[in-house]
Amino acid sequence: MQLRELLGVLRARWRTVAACLLLVVGLTAAVTVTTTPNYTASARVYLTIERPADQARGDAGGVSVMRYNDLKTLAEVLYSPTVMEPLRAELGLPPGAGVGVSLNISENASVMDVVGSSSDPRLAAAIANTTGPVLAKVAVQFSPLLSQSAPNATCVSITKAAAPGLPTSPNVRRNLALGMLIGLALGVGLAMVRHAMDTKVRTEADLKVASDRPVLAKIPLEASAVDHPLTIESDPHGAHAESIRRLRTNLMFVDVTTGKHSFVLTSAMPGEGKTTTTINLALAIADAGSRVILVDGDLRNPSVAKALGIEGGVGLTTALLGRASLAEVIQPWGETGLSILAAGEIPPNPSELLGSRPMAELFEKLAADFDFVLIDSPPLVPVIDAVLLQRLTGGLVMVVAAERTRKKDLATALTSLRTVDVAPAGFVLNFVQVDASDSYRYGKYRYQPSQADTNSTPAPRKAPSALGTRASRRQARRAGS
Ligand SMILES: Nc1ncnc2c1ncn2[C@@H]1O[C@H](COP(=O)(O)OP(=O)(O)OP(=O)(O)O)[C@@H](O)[C@H]1O
Ligand SMILES: [Mg+2]
Repeated sequence: MQLRELLGVLRARWRTVAACLLLVVGLTAAVTVTTTPNYTASARVYLTIERPADQARGDAGGVSVMRYNDLKTLAEVLYSPTVMEPLRAELGLPPGAGVGVSLNISENASVMDVVGSSSDPRLAAAIANTTGPVLAKVAVQFSPLLSQSAPNATCVSITKAAAPGLPTSPNVRRNLALGMLIGLALGVGLAMVRHAMDTKVRTEADLKVASDRPVLAKIPLEASAVDHPLTIESDPHGAHAESIRRLRTNLMFVDVTTGKHSFVLTSAMPGEGKTTTTINLALAIADAGSRVILVDGDLRNPSVAKALGIEGGVGLTTALLGRASLAEVIQPWGETGLSILAAGEIPPNPSELLGSRPMAELFEKLAADFDFVLIDSPPLVPVIDAVLLQRLTGGLVMVVAAERTRKKDLATALTSLRTVDVAPAGFVLNFVQVDASDSYRYGKYRYQPSQADTNSTPAPRKAPSALGTRASRRQARRAGS
């Protein structure tokens, strides 16, 4: 996985990461707060041995410091009753009570640190300060050499332990830092697993994982679009038409950068909504007062003419074969600025035709005669036609069906574009499920046209379109109701 994809997954699934982080940090905080605090205090001491003079042995006596080995022996017997019982007695603890104590012995300096620990800071300090003297008292019993010469052992304090102000455990900072690290690791891991298991493109964030190109519009799933695909005419103030107009606006920004006023719309796989989106986009651009030509560049499965209810037997291929002039095969759409160039007869060699010189010349004429050229095209994964058409236009727009397009197919389409050095102008996420809040926004309080808007709404088309007539009927019904 590349860094860009990893960052994309994190951006897409930041909620998962944040939830894991919060959960683990919350749990850590709860455990930390409920843990009984433990205090530790440390005293540094050394033990001396005072030997009396022994004339018989010729020993003049004296004081010496107890060495590492003897101190080690004392550490070994620290928890024996011989040490613990007098220690408890000194501390005023009942018999059998637990005493938290440990010894750290320095090998070179013959000193040792006595560390006392307890939930009571004063007891921790008392343990640290009392253990040394108690060990000195019992030391003699554990050293045969010392016991023979009957010496006295004394504990000399170097540093006394004081009652600590802060507990040693729980360590709030360390625990929270650890919790954050574990929460982050868990969240990132979970995000990766979810990303790997989710094979479909669902949200805008999934598109951002796949590519850094912008999402130009999110088009809602509009059940009525199946029967009335021309939403710009049939439901001009509905959510679908609204999102198409947003696409129009955003495309104009792309257009400024290319200056070519032409786009081809494609998708990875069939049925993602290319034709419906292209037709409505063309209508929306025409509504804004531009002269638009909509070209059906899908010479394998043409559907523009069928969707508009116009003649589809003559069109692009007819003009390319020279059987009719371009002007003869272009069909105006009502009294708008929209004209349509249907596919014409289905040729046996669509790719060759679309990549041909005559096609480039025909396109140049269209670009000269119209303000905008929009081309509907076949899907990218099965055929390369869209790439050939893209070379003529100013940009390629990828329509992606939310909840339907497989990430694998989208990646294949994008890779095939990348291999020919084409970057999409942007994405259109189609079939977006509108959630409750959106339907509230779009539905209940949908945009109501002002009088001026109503006047600028295009008049019902005069084109011989079955859909157009249906749309007009619907508009008439709405007007009547
Ligand atoms: N936003 C939408 N909401 C509901 N239905 C939609 C939407 N967009 C498209 N459709 C419907 O989905 C179906 C496929 O759409 P369309 O024909 O535009 O896809 P396409 O990508 O052009 O398909 P093909 O690859 O076969 O040419 C059609 O029935 C259309 O009405
Ligand atoms: Mg189509």
